[in-house]
Amino acid sequence: MKHKMLEKFGEVFGNTEEAKVYFAPGRVNLIGEHTDYNAGHVFPCALTIGTYGVARKRNDGILRFYSLNFEHLGVIESSLEDLVFQKEADWTNYPKGVMWAFQEKGYTIKQGMDLLLFGNIPNGSGLSSSASVEVLTGFILRDMFQFSVSNQDLALIGQFSENKFNGVNCGIMDQFAIAMGKEDHAIFLDTADLSYEYAPIKLEGAKIVITSSNKKRGLGDSKYNERRQECETALAELQEVIGIEGLGNLTIEQFEEYKSAIKDPVRQKRAKHAVYENQRTIQAKEALTANQLALFGQLMNASHVSLRDDYEVTGIELDTLVEAAWKVDGVIGSRMTGAGFGGCTVSIVKDEAIDTFQKVVGENYKETIGYEADFYVVEVGNGPVVL
Ligand code: GLA
Repeated sequence: MKHKMLEKFGEVFGNTEEAKVYFAPGRVNLIGEHTDYNAGHVFPCALTIGTYGVARKRNDGILRFYSLNFEHLGVIESSLEDLVFQKEADWTNYPKGVMWAFQEKGYTIKQGMDLLLFGNIPNGSGLSSSASVEVLTGFILRDMFQFSVSNQDLALIGQFSENKFNGVNCGIMDQFAIAMGKEDHAIFLDTADLSYEYAPIKLEGAKIVITSSNKKRGLGDSKYNERRQECETALAELQEVIGIEGLGNLTIEQFEEYKSAIKDPVRQKRAKHAVYENQRTIQAKEALTANQLALFGQLMNASHVSLRDDYEVTGIELDTLVEAAWKVDGVIGSRMTGAGFGGCTVSIVKDEAIDTFQKVVGENYKETIGYEADFYVVEVGNGPVVL
């Protein structure tokens, strides 16, 4: 891959002198969905698929971007003087946003760069291709200009750029999982204070299978912000009766005791998901650590039911995939992953059942939805690296 990337860089930008090759992963969340903006826990891991980048510092302030995923867009040019969001700047708003964020945080970028990217994360699948580009850009900037920032800072700067430059009000999970990824480990992160622990993923005889619904998110971002708003209102109502800082602070018993403070029944369901999902995530981490894979799978399934019925972010595509998966022998657990409204599911499937799983779920999906789903057997990898 390194060689191919350099060759392409040479073709697009003239030669490969002083160009360096980098990689940042994508991520999948095993459990703990829509908890990261509710002071709850998440349990994601980095993947071995992600974004490759070749970068070289320039002597002027010009920025030139090229993506092998969007070759028809050609070289997109900008400059360090012009770090503002522009719709027509397309995907380059992600790297530009991170450069802007570094400047905002007081790190001066004195020279421009030529940057060529290639991502092998299925496009629009909800495996965080944008967070992968953000962390990759931060990692390149740190390497190029010797900024003293930690990997955790790279995650925070990436999230800041996504929130403030690209206008998506996401939580910290995606950027954190990518910047802090560790081979064969999931990251148990408490988003209330960013304390975290690595938990070994020992799936003995089973694999993580991601199924892409191939439904693009479309309206997803506005629904995402709507859910955040609902949780914030529910929290404010609860704060009238109990001193908490986030829904993640509540136990199930406390929630049941105080839930009547939430005046609207829909909002009550949203808050219920956030509280129960957080508790499921804590339990799931313990189950995985104790090698109780069957329990882990049951918690994944329960997470999907809650996202379907209480949080209402699944939709017919993800429900069809998951409900078909549950019926296949050898499926330990299956649920939607990421924001929802399209995107992917994550399933833990016994090795000998993977073929049947793909066949049964694939046929079922095609028949109900009308187009194909795609399957990826994935591996859990490290955070960003220089290749
Ligand atoms: C998206 C956001 C994350 C998180 C998930 C839902 O992936 O970027 O911060 O909120 O949705 O769990």
